[in-house]
Amino acid sequence: KPLSEPTIEEVAKGITDGTFKKIIVMTGAGISVAAGIPDFRTPGTGLYYNLQKYDLPFPEAVFEIRYFQQRPEPFYALAKEMWPSNYKPTITHHFIRLLEEKGVLLRNYTQNIDTLERQAGISPELLVEAHGSFGTTRCIKCKREVDQEWLREKVFRDEIPKCSDCEGLIKPDITFFGENLPERFHTLTHPDFQQCDLLFVIGTSLEVYPFASLVDRPKSDVPRVLINMEEVGPFESTKKDDCRDVKVLGDCQASVRELAKLLHWESELDELVHQ
Ligand code: OAD
Repeated sequence: KPLSEPTIEEVAKGITDGTFKKIIVMTGAGISVAAGIPDFRTPGTGLYYNLQKYDLPFPEAVFEIRYFQQRPEPFYALAKEMWPSNYKPTITHHFIRLLEEKGVLLRNYTQNIDTLERQAGISPELLVEAHGSFGTTRCIKCKREVDQEWLREKVFRDEIPKCSDCEGLIKPDITFFGENLPERFHTLTHPDFQQCDLLFVIGTSLEVYPFASLVDRPKSDVPRVLINMEEVGPFESTKKDDCRDVKVLGDCQASVRELAKLLHWESELDELVHQ
């Protein structure tokens, strides 16, 4: 029977008693803040509040494909700062991995490009990197794949990386505004959200579409759990209350640890964190 006004305790019970076994986790930059990577939109610390030195017409321009084609320098300067290197997955990443180990993770849809999901050991089949990642690199014109190390060297030498075949700009396969999301996103969302029996939404402002629209895709009786610093999207108090929604506000790392306690998974989570 559908849960009406579920609590986080009831959700946890539903996971342990096998009611929920096709869980989708939607994630965003908030889950990697504890790893030392700033998010985009938190006033003050978010990346979009700290781009003054690049002299952009508006912050998102740094990730806009048309702007990049005209003026790629700000993106490469930023890429040099953001290049994934010594960051470690957080408790939240390990928790998602634990859902996989328990056999209840249907998919993790992430907007993050930091590849910390892969580092945490989440299987590639269970992962949709909806905004791409730094993992592969190609020419934006002829689409030829280019060695990532070559790109890194160029970027760190402040050179503009261009294709040796067609002179097109070389860019990591992160999805810019104005570009299509990866094929996987489009092929998997429909069957996934038909089956999904529980949705977690963690560390995202739900500001960017089409990703944000996924939150409306589960069937109408499927509980949706927001674990975030603030209320976002359909979870905002000003919106009509949806009686299947649960909100756990505050730092997601602490909330996820609490949830692991309710599930009696704390020591297994610690093992993953410390391995
Ligand atoms: P945002 O920066 O828009 O949102 C991050 C959310 O996480 C906000 O609601 C924060 O309040 C919350 N948050 C921050 N720290 C947290 C913490 N410790 N615990 C819990 N919540 C926390 O980031 P995204 O929603 O991921 O796209 O942004 C979506 C897309 O916008 C990105 O993928 C990127 C960007 O433009 C592209 O570049 C294509």
